[in-house]
Amino acid sequence: MSDRKNLLSIQDLTIDDVENIIKLAGQYLKNEAANGHILKNKAVINLFFEDSTRTLVSFEIAAKSLGANVITLPIKSSSINKGENLKNMVKTLNAMNPDYIVIRQKNSGILNMLAEHVSCSLINAGDGSSEHPTQALADYFVISSNKKQIKDLKIVICGDILHSRVARSNIRLLKMFGAKICLVAPPTLICRYFPEVDSVHYSLIEGIKDADVIMLLRLQKERMNNGCFIPSEREYFRLYGLDLRKLSYAKPSAIVMHPGPINRGIEISSDIADNVILQQVKFGLAIRKAVLHYYSSC
Ligand code: NCD
Repeated sequence: MSDRKNLLSIQDLTIDDVENIIKLAGQYLKNEAANGHILKNKAVINLFFEDSTRTLVSFEIAAKSLGANVITLPIKSSSINKGENLKNMVKTLNAMNPDYIVIRQKNSGILNMLAEHVSCSLINAGDGSSEHPTQALADYFVISSNKKQIKDLKIVICGDILHSRVARSNIRLLKMFGAKICLVAPPTLICRYFPEVDSVHYSLIEGIKDADVIMLLRLQKERMNNGCFIPSEREYFRLYGLDLRKLSYAKPSAIVMHPGPINRGIEISSDIADNVILQQVKFGLAIRKAVLHYYSSC
C-alpha cells in the first residue's frame, strides 16, 4: 500500500489503491457511500494555474459534498502576479493548515519538489504534459464499467500524445492492469519513449483495427509554442479525426472516449455519440470524491 499522502502520479498508486478508489467511486456513484461528512472541518484549496472546467468543478463539488471548506484561489488576482514564486506561494498556503492542495499547473514534473514543502496532501489535477492521475482513474472506471475486464483489451490512444498528460497517466494505469496500448498520431506528435506501449501507428485506420476502446486527445496548442506540428487542422481531421467511416474498422462494440474539452471537426466528427464522453465526466466526479475520501486518513 502506498503512503497515501500525495497523489502526484500513477506511480504513487498500487493495484490495491486503484481497486479501493474504484470501489469507493462506485459507492459514490450509487449514492451508497455513507460518508457525506468525511471531510467535515477539513479545508481543500484548489490552485489552478491552467484553465479547467471538468476537473476544477468536479473537485469543488466533490469536496463540498463531502463536507469540506473549499477555497478556489482566483489565480489572476493572487500574489503570483506580484512576483511570488510557486514554491513560496504553496508554502504560504500550507502555513494556513489546509488538509489538501489540489493543484494544476503548466510545468511538467515539479510537484515532487513542491510536495517536500507542504504537510498537507498534494493532489495533482494536471501538471504540464506529465500526469493527470484523477483523469486516468476516471477513464479506468469508465472502461471497467463498460467492458468485462481490462486485461488484453486493445486501447487505442489517438492525437497529440507528445503533449498529453492524460495519455501518460492512462498508459501507466491501463498497463498495470494488462491492457494492450496502441498509439496513433502524426510523427510530429508522438513520443517515442514509451516502454509500456505495444504498438505505434501513423495511420488511424491501421491503428484502430479491432480496437475495444478509442481514446481521442485534443491538440494541445497551448503547449506547442506556435511550432508547426500539423499541416492544417483540416488535414489533421482528414487523417486523424475519428468519423463513422474510420470507426467502422474498430470492433462494433468499441467505445469512444475523450477527456474533453472536445473540438468537433478536428479530433472527432459531430456524428459520433458522446454518451461515453459524458459518462467520463460523471464518473470523474465520483472518482474525485473517492480520491479525497481515500486520502483523508493520512
Ligand atoms: C485534459 C487536461 O486538462 O489535461 N482535460 C481534462 O482535464 N479533462 C485534456 C485537455 O485539456 O485536452
